[in-house]
Amino acid sequence: MAKKLRPDTLGVRAGTVRSDFGEHSEALVLSTSFVYKSAAEAARKFASTSPEDNIYSRFTNPTVKMFQDRLAALEGAEACVATATGMAAISTMVFGLMKSGDHLVIARGVFGTVVPLLEQIAKKFDIEVTWVEATNLDAWTQAIRPNTKLLYAESPSNPALEVVDIAGLAAIAKKAGAILAMDNAVASPALQQPIALGADLVIHSATKYIEGQGRVLAGAIAGRADLVTGPLFHYVRTAGPAISPYNAWTCLKGMETLGVRMKGHCSNALEMARWLEAHPGVERVLYPALESHPQHALAMRQQSGGGAVVSFVAKGGREGAWRVIDGVQLISNTANFGDVKTTICHPATTTHGRLTPAEREAAGIAEGLIRLGVGLEHPDDLREDLSRGLTQGKA
Ligand SMILES: Cc1ncc(COP(=O)(O)O)c(C=O)c1O
Repeated sequence: MAKKLRPDTLGVRAGTVRSDFGEHSEALVLSTSFVYKSAAEAARKFASTSPEDNIYSRFTNPTVKMFQDRLAALEGAEACVATATGMAAISTMVFGLMKSGDHLVIARGVFGTVVPLLEQIAKKFDIEVTWVEATNLDAWTQAIRPNTKLLYAESPSNPALEVVDIAGLAAIAKKAGAILAMDNAVASPALQQPIALGADLVIHSATKYIEGQGRVLAGAIAGRADLVTGPLFHYVRTAGPAISPYNAWTCLKGMETLGVRMKGHCSNALEMARWLEAHPGVERVLYPALESHPQHALAMRQQSGGGAVVSFVAKGGREGAWRVIDGVQLISNTANFGDVKTTICHPATTTHGRLTPAEREAAGIAEGLIRLGVGLEHPDDLREDLSRGLTQGKA
């Protein structure tokens, strides 16, 4: 069924399984474990790796399975495994796929917490890491070594909104015999499907647009069945970064409105980006759907909309950025994005504060940079709210 349907329909319908009760809304199966009819059935299920065999909710759970199947359908993926958070998905990718001595090539400018994960934790296990400029395909090619196992990037990236040529990167990975994993949290599958462009895996912080209302943490890896149902599922089942069924259910229901939310988010974000670009208190706006974005043409080829993260550099460096943030009364000063409520943050001193100044510079995170996660409020109200701090800093 799922393959013939359009994305808006898949978001509402894909993956649904009804229990014998015939419930219309998907059931939240809050159960740690599942009962067996006999000792022999228990033994058979424990030996199984099938997602159909419910045993214990660290391995398998019917609500989690519905979430995984719906996200796989939206991403056009063969399989999906859910995780507790987006970082759990990234850790599962690294430790589920790589061994000591393997090499990873990664874009500079990915989400800040990925840097200490690789530089401090993965390094303890001798996983080699090379950081490259995301938008420079030659740099990716030059970084490839005989032991390169994985290439990893975000597009668009958080918060600098760099756009990577996914098909170009997929060709490099294929030639190297390496796996390409793309983080699709910022665009969401409503706007971009990296697998159709050649990626092997898609990583999600489902905490963002998949869930959509800032309620729960969740993550997922979708993509090639041999990787997802093989080493990645094995890692989740064994190391334990499993998702709670409640969080999976919240994301499952969130996906029902993903298509319509993303249309509203993109339209508001474009309006805000154009207004900020014309504002005298703003030095620069980064938004893929603006003609001024350095990868605008590429972004419009591989995405069906600009997304809802708009980053801009306020005049006056850190002081100017903090003035804008301290001036807002409606917009939430908080670290998340992907919410219907507009959020604002200063990446250099919050989400990316654990990076060294050199790492931040390489990732394009200026002291004056502000990340706006544009929500679904009326844009006039957002403009009025931002104007307070921006107008003071226009000189
Ligand atoms: C692009 C991206 N990937 C991954 C993550 C990590 O996700 P989580 O906070 O769900 O662990 C984030 C969090 O902001 C993110 O922005």
